[in-house]
Amino acid sequence: METVVSGIRSTGNLHLGNYFGALKNFLRMQHENHCYFFIADYHSLTTHPTPEDLHGSSKQVLVEYLAAGLDPEIVTIYMQSDIPEIPELYLLLNMNAYKGELERCTSFKEKIRNQTENINAGLLTYPVLMAADVLIHRATKVPVGKDQEQHLEMMRTFVARFNRMYKTEYFPEPLAYNFGEQLIKIPGLDGSGKMGKSEGNGIFLADDPAAIRKKVMRAVTDSGPLTPGQEMSEPVRNLFTIMQVVSTPETISHFREKFDHAEIRYGDLKQQLAEDIIAFTSPIREKILQISADNNYLKKVARQGAEKARESASKTIREVRQIIGFKSF
Ligand code: TRP
Repeated sequence: METVVSGIRSTGNLHLGNYFGALKNFLRMQHENHCYFFIADYHSLTTHPTPEDLHGSSKQVLVEYLAAGLDPEIVTIYMQSDIPEIPELYLLLNMNAYKGELERCTSFKEKIRNQTENINAGLLTYPVLMAADVLIHRATKVPVGKDQEQHLEMMRTFVARFNRMYKTEYFPEPLAYNFGEQLIKIPGLDGSGKMGKSEGNGIFLADDPAAIRKKVMRAVTDSGPLTPGQEMSEPVRNLFTIMQVVSTPETISHFREKFDHAEIRYGDLKQQLAEDIIAFTSPIREKILQISADNNYLKKVARQGAEKARESASKTIREVRQIIGFKSF
């Protein structure tokens, strides 16, 4: 079994695209590896420094991952800010991360372009904190998307430098956990591109049936096929793609045939799609409501997760301090 660490950005509600992307992989991974999943609330501070943003969205993310099926008895789920060993390792790694390489990082360059009024040191050292998240458990696998690959590369640079500097093989070089072809990209409802959080484009796991019906009925289509065998436009293809994950094969082939014979009524297709989405998300939504109201349970999960994570984290810190040469008097 390999040790896997992943940080979950606390940006609030999950949509179907998140579910069939990262989340579904997490659900499968939890049985096959030794997993640490945490809410990256320290990282959130680099862009969202106020308390209003922080707690609510962190809680919501925890609730939704649990509701979707992450099992806290199997994986270690915790808040990054509950593990003081992470900032300690971050400090130590910072001594050994160079300004030049941090400034060359693409995500930093993007941030200084878009967040000109708050270019803080946390942004610059974001990849170091991320390395600390992973190295604190000496993990070997990190499930991340393409956008995080450079951060992973920097992590390996820090590891190689640390090991060289202290003549050790203490830290393994973590690799990306790639799902590539198994990933289904869920398109949005606005006609092009993947599902996102913009108004009306995404179906959230927490959406109630009325909201789902409204969004689906308003999804972009076209004026309909005029002749049998006509090619499908992107917006219509997108609705069929969503069907792939929520509807039965019979439903899909029924509407596919209607389309091919140029007899389709998009209103019927949308009505069916909305009901199938509702059938899929309803049990998750019910769990979201139930878990969200159960603060004692959430407290217990967070406390248990922090305890387990700190067991592994404090061992690492003890050993790293020894390697670096701190001794008590
Ligand atoms: N930077 C990651 C993202 O934006 C989140 C993250 C923080 C993370 N720490 C991590 C991911 C450690 C994997 C491992 O998605």
